[in-house]
Amino acid sequence: MVQEGQDWIYSETVKDHFLNPRNFLMGDEANFEYDAMGLVGNPICGDQMKVYIKVRDGKIVDVKWKTYGCASAIASTSALSEIAKGKTLDEALEIKAEDIDDYLGKLPKHKFHCSVLGHDALKDAIEKYREKDGEK
Ligand code: FES
Repeated sequence: MVQEGQDWIYSETVKDHFLNPRNFLMGDEANFEYDAMGLVGNPICGDQMKVYIKVRDGKIVDVKWKTYGCASAIASTSALSEIAKGKTLDEALEIKAEDIDDYLGKLPKHKFHCSVLGHDALKDAIEKYREKDGEK
């Protein structure tokens, strides 16, 4: 018997975000004026993720991202970019991988680690923003 989250079936929301990724950075980084970029690698699979943030008055006003990650990483980061927009930096730091998983209607359990990639890259971007520019 197939149990929820333990199979290879992707939710309709996951498929939508994979096939129509939101806020994906097309082309070169020069195409997006950002304030900080976070970069992480996934130790489980070796994939990489970059998340770029634009910050105004302490809020994330825009997010872009690029990845070498899999379909689940693409869908997760697409969802994350939608969740994070408009949040303060502190609110964005409170976003958990479980929130992304819920937003997507659950990833297969063995793909949950893929949702952590964008999440960690966003945290890295926020930390770099705070180190470099301080709160604006
Ligand atoms: S398998 Fe590498 S991010 Fe999903």
